[in-house]
Amino acid sequence: MGKHAAIIGIGHAVPNKILSNADLEKMVDTSDEWIYQRTGMRERRICGPEETASTLGIEAAQKALADAGITADSIDLVVCGTVTGDMAFPSTSCLIQEGIGATHAGAMDIGAACAGFIYSLSVASAMVQSGQAKRALVVGVDVLTKFVDYTDRSTCVLFGDGGGAVVLEQTDEPRGLLKSVLLSNGAGAKHIDLQVGGSRHPNSNPESENFRKHIYMAGAEVYRFAVTAMGDACCKLLDETGYSSEDIGLFVPHQANLRIIESAAQRLGLPEEKVFINVEKYGNTSGGSIPIALSEAVEQGRLKPGMLVMTVGFGAGLVWGANLIRW
Ligand code: UT7
Repeated sequence: MGKHAAIIGIGHAVPNKILSNADLEKMVDTSDEWIYQRTGMRERRICGPEETASTLGIEAAQKALADAGITADSIDLVVCGTVTGDMAFPSTSCLIQEGIGATHAGAMDIGAACAGFIYSLSVASAMVQSGQAKRALVVGVDVLTKFVDYTDRSTCVLFGDGGGAVVLEQTDEPRGLLKSVLLSNGAGAKHIDLQVGGSRHPNSNPESENFRKHIYMAGAEVYRFAVTAMGDACCKLLDETGYSSEDIGLFVPHQANLRIIESAAQRLGLPEEKVFINVEKYGNTSGGSIPIALSEAVEQGRLKPGMLVMTVGFGAGLVWGANLIRW
């Protein structure tokens, strides 16, 4: 029998500072009513100047290690899903590796935007299953508010900061990630981007002034894509594994917009009590959204050992994907 990669610990971290819809009303021409009706968001968490992807990632990782009851020196792989790392390089996973004291671990970042945790869990689980690593730490974290233009009402109301982490351990028991669906379509790259700071428009090039230094998103296009992509990825995952919607104990989708979540849940025929939602508190935390939601679901007793949980995410790339996990 093949090996599996059980999730043996989980934790999350968000900044203390809250940015409410009422705060945003004072910054741009928007209203609590518009934001809540269109997105389901009431507030989001915002990093202070000292907080970064790695500081939140380290805090989440430490909580996950404590939850697992293990020390960092037994971890042999750190994978971090982020597109808002502390620096272009070194990788944020290296900063987390150092911060927690995982002195025997390899470290790498995975850039899959809001699907960052879906992709990272898939890669790390495969490495644990194959025996390349015995214990892995998987972090999903983003601090998009550092890249938001707070004069652009079409994006600034949407994003918040935060991250979560899980510890994986090789086991013979049929637990952990059962199957992933990972998909991409680079033709949609133009719909969400941050142009300056990469090798096409480096900060050092004066002409980079003409390109975007902040997040751009074609909201309506992404919305249409997301509604179809979430449902498609989940249906493919169920088809490929032979499970049906009724077998799902908890559905934990990327928290980008309440309406997108509700439409995916409806397509899958999932009742409200099987859908985990915390978008009202955190907004869209990109790669942090799914592990934060999983961690809160465990805290609230809604996610229990043995349960079948389906996660699904989508974002800049375009990328999307879904994971089926035996908790
Ligand atoms: O995780 C990354 C993936 N990203 C997403 O999941 C985002 C997907 N997209 C969305 O969630 C939605 O498209 C938004 C929440 C971004 C926008 O909702 P929408 O229902 O698609 O609105 P819209 O963009 O079509 O805009 C409707 C109106 C526009 O005014 P007009 O042109 O109809 O007069 C906007 O200018 O709402 C206006 N608007 C706002 N009004 C008040 C846009 N942003 C705001 C705002 N406050 N913050």
